[in-house]
Amino acid sequence: MTQSKILVIDDEEFITKSLKQHLEKEDCEVLTAGSGEEGLEIFRTDVPDIVILDLNMPGMGGIEALRSLKKINNDIIVIIITAHGDIETAVSAIKLGAYDFVEKPFELDRISVLIRKANETVHLKREVSYFRGEKYDTYNFSNIVGESGPMTEVLTLARKVAESDANTIFIQGESGTGKSLLARAIHYNSKRASEPFVEVTCTAIPEALIESELFGHERGAFTDAKVAKKGLFEFASGGTIYLDEIGDIKMTTQAKLLRALEEKTFKRVGGLKDIKVNVRIVATTNKKNLEGAVQDGSFRADLYYRLKVFPIYIPPLRERRGDIIPLALHHIDKFNKEFRKNVKSISKGAEALLYKYPWHGNARELRNVVERICILENTETIYPEHLPTEVIKYIDEHVDARDAIELPNEGLSLKGVERDLIAQALKRADNNQTKAAKLLGISRDALRYKMQKSGLL
Ligand SMILES: Nc1ncnc2c1ncn2[C@@H]1O[C@H](COP(=O)(O)OP(=O)(O)OP(=O)(O)O)[C@@H](O)[C@H]1O
Ligand SMILES: [Mg+2]
Repeated sequence: MTQSKILVIDDEEFITKSLKQHLEKEDCEVLTAGSGEEGLEIFRTDVPDIVILDLNMPGMGGIEALRSLKKINNDIIVIIITAHGDIETAVSAIKLGAYDFVEKPFELDRISVLIRKANETVHLKREVSYFRGEKYDTYNFSNIVGESGPMTEVLTLARKVAESDANTIFIQGESGTGKSLLARAIHYNSKRASEPFVEVTCTAIPEALIESELFGHERGAFTDAKVAKKGLFEFASGGTIYLDEIGDIKMTTQAKLLRALEEKTFKRVGGLKDIKVNVRIVATTNKKNLEGAVQDGSFRADLYYRLKVFPIYIPPLRERRGDIIPLALHHIDKFNKEFRKNVKSISKGAEALLYKYPWHGNARELRNVVERICILENTETIYPEHLPTEVIKYIDEHVDARDAIELPNEGLSLKGVERDLIAQALKRADNNQTKAAKLLGISRDALRYKMQKSGLL
């Protein structure tokens, strides 16, 4: 483990000197300052990992210096030196976020132990912030492709909901439409981002266990409960719990879920004590209509309506075909990096086939197709022959040649065709741009851009 950079702030030169000498022997880099003001100056320019701060100094007092340090970097580890017996000030320093304190006169060995402990914390914090940074990048909205009108709407709504205080969000969509991806983006772009995101696949947990998995259990709650156990709700405290396939949760658990949402409390299995939680639930279902389950009595109506406060519906890919090619290009880019390939483009022929295929497995199926091509082929351009047989076969069997636009022998102007189709779409939509954009499977902004480019605006 690399040693930390330490800043010692004390008006007594004897102390700064002896600490510097001692800690340098332990391979730490040590900076010193004789006053709060000087300390802050050094803190701003040299960015130490740990500060040792005397509370009793003339000029800017230690408490004031501590406040300023925390304002600059709330994560900074500050070890306080207090006068003998001045526990009260030490306590107020801890309340302000100091890491620990030592009383004067102190043993240098005590400082060594504290610094070693603090050093471990510094490293852990660095690791956490690195992984968090990675997650923020991976699960950012910018990594979700959505150029079609319907998907632009979904993303706008999701961004708004993420920032809101809504504690229940309900995402519906067929399998592979990107529900999990969206749920993560919502979490990592919310105020809860630095708290846990706990994912529960409800169908993967046996029915008898789900309640204790979610809410925990007390010792002796059932035969195997030898010790008390925290549930996932407690682990997710302050963060988000992602309940995949909520439609499959049994009625008694549904009741507990509802209470956890409405009253922010629950009881562990076998427990009497109410436990307080502040958790946002993002629930999903790929069932077409959960309403049916409500009507036949297998899903609680009150929970259903609670979930429906913020519904987000992700349409199947075949209903937003404008996303197909952008999605394919997005994944090509990703897999190029992952497999060190150099696929640059998709030929018009291959594009047409991808566009017409119905993608019953949605974005997941498309992603898998692109992945397979990137692994197997060494080509810069994807041609129809690179596409999997199921795609080619489907098109052969289902798409009537008369439906397709055929390229005349003399060729044609692609720009002209685009302009023509835009004009047709506008006419059919009575000049309603939003509707025309929908007909063409692009966003209204994209339509306006194209209209401008082709002189229709
Ligand atoms: N809009 C999108 N942009 C980029 N990638 C996407 C998008 N939608 C889905 N994907 C990718 O497709 C795959 C499936 O997405 P995800 O797991 O989120 O779907 P799901 O709706 O949760 O499916 P299931 O119902 O089976 O759990 C993932 O690899 C995801 O990254
Ligand atoms: Mg999922």
